[in-house]
Order: sequence, then structure tokens, then C-alpha cells
Amino acid sequence: MLTRGLLHVLPCIAADICNSISESSFNQIRLMSAESMQRQSSEFTHPNLEVLLTEEQIRERVNELGAQITAEYAKGDVVVVAILKGSCVFLADLMRAIDLRMTIDFMAVSSYKDGTESTGDVEILKDLSNPIRGKDVIVVEDIIDTGHTLARLLEILGTRGANSIKLAAFLDKPEPRVRKEVKIDYCGFVIPNHFVVGYGLDAAGRYRNLPFIARVKNPAEA
Ligand code: IMP
Ligand code: MG
Repeated sequence: MLTRGLLHVLPCIAADICNSISESSFNQIRLMSAESMQRQSSEFTHPNLEVLLTEEQIRERVNELGAQITAEYAKGDVVVVAILKGSCVFLADLMRAIDLRMTIDFMAVSSYKDGTESTGDVEILKDLSNPIRGKDVIVVEDIIDTGHTLARLLEILGTRGANSIKLAAFLDKPEPRVRKEVKIDYCGFVIPNHFVVGYGLDAAGRYRNLPFIARVKNPAEA
């Protein structure tokens, strides 16, 4: 009776052990493969990227710019106009480093390109929400390359009766500049003529979320 009972129970125990072993090793394999997949698919350590500016360098420089703006606009009442989408991360950090009475507004533009270079034909996709007449405006842009986009944008904003308009650009890439008259009043970093991503800047919409600036080694594969 006992033997028959044991015989009946043993396969169940054996099956339970087998199940729990196979379940735990399956979970382990699943965990390992999830980890290695995560490593393989990391955006932040993608092999096509080379870090140019670290988070620390960026934080320090943006805080300096904020302090400079705070000192230069002692009376406050500034309107910071950010150009979407690339300047969104720079704006978020810069505005928190400006200790002034201020408001923000946004513009979205699309610059027409001739091959890879912008032509200066700018279409306004989203205009400012409020008038800037009589205001002190700081335009915030991610990067000035040929300068076509900002030259046209500053022309457009220049017709709207602002008291002053200045330009803050996170990156200045002077080598390909065509519109030499574009003056950057507050510049984060001057960089060589590389295609860069991160900190809001993209390659076909990708990489805006990188907390640093990276050079794209092979832009064709970005
Ligand atoms: P520009 O009219 O040639 O000065 O072009 C300015 C715009 O081109 C910027 O606002 C960016 O959106 C884009 N751009 C220029 N260079 C880069 C780059 O290296 N990485 C990402 N976007 C760039
Ligand atoms: Mg842009």
C-alpha cells in the first residue's frame, strides 16, 4: 500500500523537480538574454557614436550661459523663444539656469534642403503663441550650421517690433557657415564640421535622448 502510494507520488515529485529546474533555468536564460539584448541595443553606447561632449561638460557650460544671461538682463522680463524640436533639451536646462522673470514660447520651422544643405527657404510650421512687440527676446537654437535657417528666422522675428533679439545656440559649427552675418550672442560650444547627435539633436529623428553630444562616425548608417 505504502509502496504503491510512493510509486504514485514519486513521479509527481520528480516531475515537480524537473519543472522547477527547467522553469528556473529558463528564467535565468531569459534574464541573461534580456540583459545581453539590452547591451546590444543600447542607444547610449551605440558603436556608430563617439562622445564629443560629456554630460558634465554640458551641465557646466549651460550653467555658465544661464549666469551670463541672468547678469546681462538684470531687469528681467525676457521671452525665450525655442526653435523646435532640436533645442528642447538645451531650453530645459538653460531656462533653469536663468534666474530672471521670464516666459517661454516656441516656433517650429522646416528648412528646405538642397541635397544635405539648407537653402534658407523656411516654412513656419508653428508660430509664436504671443506677440513679442516691446519684449527682449532670446532665440534658443540647437546648432548653427550654414546659418540659413537662423538668418531667415531672425529676419522674420525682426519685423515684429521686439525691443531686442539675441541668439543663444548650444553648438556653433562655423566651418560650413554661409550666412556669416548670423551673430551668436550666447554660444555653448564651437565644434568641428562633424554630424553630431544627442542633447536634442537628431539623425532622422533618432538620438535626441542621448544625455551627451556624440559625433556620428558613419552618417549613412545613422
Ligand atoms: P542651417 O540652416 O544649415 O544652419 O541648419 C540648422 C539646422 O540643421 C539645425 O537647426 C539642425 O536642425 C540641423 N543640423 C545642422 N547640423 C546638424 C548636426 O550636426 N546634427 C543634427 N542636426 C544638424
Ligand atoms: Mg534645428
